[in-house]
Amino acid sequence: SLCPSIYYRAIKPNDLDRLEQIHRDIFPIKYESEFFQSVVNGVDIISWAAVDRSRPDDHSDELIGFITAKFVLAKDSELADGFCLAQIDDLVHYDSSKGEETLIYILTLGVVETYRNRGIARSLISEVINYASGLSVCRGVYLHVIAHNNAAICLYKRLMFRCVRRLHGFYLIKRQHFDAFLFVYFINGS
Ligand code: ACO
Repeated sequence: SLCPSIYYRAIKPNDLDRLEQIHRDIFPIKYESEFFQSVVNGVDIISWAAVDRSRPDDHSDELIGFITAKFVLAKDSELADGFCLAQIDDLVHYDSSKGEETLIYILTLGVVETYRNRGIARSLISEVINYASGLSVCRGVYLHVIAHNNAAICLYKRLMFRCVRRLHGFYLIKRQHFDAFLFVYFINGS
């Protein structure tokens, strides 16, 4: 087969089916259709896709990886002491004129199995960090990861995210609780 030629672009409405399919295939958590609608329409969510341009025509623009994220209000006091969990799930509409400090919360990140270990997840995270770094009001990028997901944990450590908390029973999957780690990447002098 041809040498992959990975390209990063915005997620579009016609990515909907493929985006849902990959989420179903690789995550243990079920995401609602409202979530996917928000992603593909760019409503309150920012996202990037990876595609392989070297694939045959009808697949050359098909998602092979993605990252989705949202803005969350940051408060100085909570940042000084890690995070206040009551605050970080509040979705905020980004408005730089308000001068409010924000964080970016990564919701989902995935690469289809056959394209793993080629630096695609690293590039997708870089897209988010570069974007966040360009916003003077953005203090950092953070996320949750289930405690047994070694690949993802290695990835975030490698990319200089800092693990700031272990949250007991954070995820409920098939009536079983699992711990999560909270990872943060601080930017703009935070
Ligand atoms: N084991 C150990 N380290 C790994 C692994 C692994 N399996 N995969 C990635 N890494 C680390 C390595 O340090 C690697 O850098 P290096 O090759 O220079 O050593 C670095 O991460 C970058 O790896 P990438 O090639 O960019 O990662 P990839 O494109 O393979 O995607 C991902 C990694 C997203 C975790 C992929 O395995 C995946 O989609 N898994 C299933 C879904 C998932 O777990 N998503 C993250 C959940 S958390 C969340 O969504 C917020």
